[in-house]
Amino acid sequence: MVKLSWENKANISENIKDLKIRYFNYFKPVDVGIGDLKGNNWKNLLFWGENLNVLHYLTNNFSGKIDLIYVDPPFFSGTDYRIKIEEDGNQYDSIAYFDHWGKDLDSYLQMLRDRIVLFRELLSINGLLFIHLDWHASHYVRVLLDEIFGANRFVNSIVWYYYNKYSAGKKSLPRAHDDILVYSKSANYTFNELRIRRKKPIKQLKRVMVDGVLKNAKDEKGHVIYRVVKDKKMDDVWKIPCMQPASKEWTGFPTQKHHDLLERIIKIGSNEGDLVADFFCGSGTTLLVADKLNRRWIGSDISEYSIYLTRKRLLNYRKNIIDPKIEPFEIYAHFDEQKKNLISSGFFEKDLKIKRKK
Ligand SMILES: C[S@@+](CC[C@H](N)C(=O)[O-])C[C@H]1O[C@@H](n2cnc3c(N)ncnc32)[C@H](O)[C@@H]1O
Repeated sequence: MVKLSWENKANISENIKDLKIRYFNYFKPVDVGIGDLKGNNWKNLLFWGENLNVLHYLTNNFSGKIDLIYVDPPFFSGTDYRIKIEEDGNQYDSIAYFDHWGKDLDSYLQMLRDRIVLFRELLSINGLLFIHLDWHASHYVRVLLDEIFGANRFVNSIVWYYYNKYSAGKKSLPRAHDDILVYSKSANYTFNELRIRRKKPIKQLKRVMVDGVLKNAKDEKGHVIYRVVKDKKMDDVWKIPCMQPASKEWTGFPTQKHHDLLERIIKIGSNEGDLVADFFCGSGTTLLVADKLNRRWIGSDISEYSIYLTRKRLLNYRKNIIDPKIEPFEIYAHFDEQKKNLISSGFFEKDLKIKRKK
């Protein structure tokens, strides 16, 4: 078997051993026992923290329980994603998240490997993993996924073609697509066929099965029969625009993905009531779309701006549906001094305007 190797490659990274973390319900500051998370009254869960800890924590109760995992991790782009924040008329800059690894591809791959192993453990037997990357590292990660899931568990490499993003290419063609790698936990995975509308309806020969062989259907005079087809099976090249600030869905988060992209993914790989997770949730696109499509969800992110935006987006969406005083999800965090200070400053209740800074 072909395997990817790098210096100090570890099966399980040292830093996930023996992690004992306690999560607290942020809004009701009570110590929540693990049993409460799996009660009949399901509440969607948003974790604010390092996802390696969150994943490790979830293996206590959620191994084999998550039906679809979509992640959009840092791409090894070498960029730090900056934002401009406006608060009560004052402006300041901050970092939404870092994707700076120097030349250290080894540590980037180890970071992903540690998490992919845990994704696999958390996936249900019918589950699918969608991992969103681009040209920087997707070729390495595919080999890594073959190693962890098995090459025979490869399902698709979806090309997301974003035709509306400016991309300079002086000595290369402009780069205009991302890669979404799809792997399944077993051969028996959820997969709902999606169809898309054709630009123009086409005439197609009607085919029928005769004694196990597919043949052209004919009328009583022996003429072939045509039918008009308005849609087609969705293939693995998806033409969907990049989010633009003019969109009413735009949050200002630098790498917010298009909700249509997530809608396709969630519809393909899960059914109503299934449990969907995104452990690098950013502005919360996956969780919002999952909510709209009546899936249960778990999300996590390390950045306070991400948790701020995700919470705001979900509450905004839910406010017309249920009693606005009832949180439609619970937020958990492993409290350190920094988090406590941020919460007590009223950060999550502030009215912040967040803009991507180029
Ligand atoms: C590309 S963005 C996700 C964007 C998201 N798909 C959206 O539509 O807004 C990657 C996110 O991963 C988060 N992240 C990076 N490393 C992380 C870690 N170790 N644990 C948790 N979150 C992490 C960043 O804070 C960032 O919000």
